[in-house]
Amino acid sequence: LFANVPLAPRDPILGLNEAYAADPRSNKVNLGVGVYYDDNGKIPLLACVREAETAMAANPKPRGYQPIEGPAHYTTAVQHLLFGPQSPLLAEKRVVTAQGLGGTGALRIGADLLKRIVPDASVYISAPSWENHRGIFEAAGFSVREYRYFDAQTGGVDFAGMIADLEAAPAHSIIVLHACCHNPTGADLTEAQWQTVVEVCRAKALVPFLDMAYQGFAEGIDADAVAVRRFCDAGIPVLISSSFSKNFSLYGERVGALSIVTTTADEAARVLSQLKRVIRTNYSNPPTHGAALVATVLADSALRQQWETELAGMRDRIRAMRQGLRARLEAAVPGRDFTFVTAQRGMFSYTGLTPEQVERLQRDFGIYAVRSGRICVAALNSHNLDTVADAIAAVLRG
Ligand code: LMR
Repeated sequence: LFANVPLAPRDPILGLNEAYAADPRSNKVNLGVGVYYDDNGKIPLLACVREAETAMAANPKPRGYQPIEGPAHYTTAVQHLLFGPQSPLLAEKRVVTAQGLGGTGALRIGADLLKRIVPDASVYISAPSWENHRGIFEAAGFSVREYRYFDAQTGGVDFAGMIADLEAAPAHSIIVLHACCHNPTGADLTEAQWQTVVEVCRAKALVPFLDMAYQGFAEGIDADAVAVRRFCDAGIPVLISSSFSKNFSLYGERVGALSIVTTTADEAARVLSQLKRVIRTNYSNPPTHGAALVATVLADSALRQQWETELAGMRDRIRAMRQGLRARLEAAVPGRDFTFVTAQRGMFSYTGLTPEQVERLQRDFGIYAVRSGRICVAALNSHNLDTVADAIAAVLRG
């Protein structure tokens, strides 16, 4: 049976963790996976989460099956973050939200649902995009194409190219958009540019699918939801995958959600019924613990406040690391423009390093980055910043 099974390549992102773990060097640095580490290189357990977990442990609950779409106190909390608690869409019951297994799982149930509704559609992802976007939509049976996005000359967005490609996409094409903190480039659209994208999606009957894995990592909860809100204002159907992996530092709990904005409450009920079939035949219903933690924190005003403070702390530390990296690179490689390091938003910096330079970073310096040249700025700290900047400068100098 397995005699001819070929060996699959390592995952381009998570595979780096395996290679990093096997590296015996004590000064190694993992800038591969998108995980936030504190200044001591540890994944934080947020104080708000610790407090919620302590309270839950003091009053343990039985673990029955959850509703297929997850518990209402969780899905409602998700909706309030994405749309704002006062959104008329919620009062009109036009939004379907289901708990997902992280942002990835939410994307996958959304993809599987769309395959039932628009089976012949193509999916368009940004060039470049998160490596797993292509894999997820291809695994759901779609053919995946790209729209122009990153402009290597400016380090920003090739907006004219993006719009031209979206305008040329056939009606009902699924357009995967990064709501904030674009992964891997860190180059985001302005609010005015989002408005144009919304208009194109409406005019061309495209299906926007917003991936929002980093809400709160650019400017803040509401500011980072601007794309979601502009699509909602336009009254067109939109899908949103969201995640608490990063902003709650709950990576291993796999706690995320898929939200779908529909046109009427009746439509929402029918869409939910189909989404439940997708979930039931995949993992039946979602796990309890992570979602309970998130819902507990978001429902308690003191814990919620604490969360926002801790999230702001993560955001500010990343900004400080960007400034530190830029200053060191500017000093070490004069004449080269590193302003992109502080202009990009979120966890990542798209460095412009070539695959060969990334390989050299790993081989000669024990510094792991994604082959595309993406580094996770959230893994820099006051102890490794000099080493990393020196190594990047060395490979850039050749
Ligand atoms: C990343 O891009 O590194 C993260 O989103 C983690 C992952 O699942 O790839």
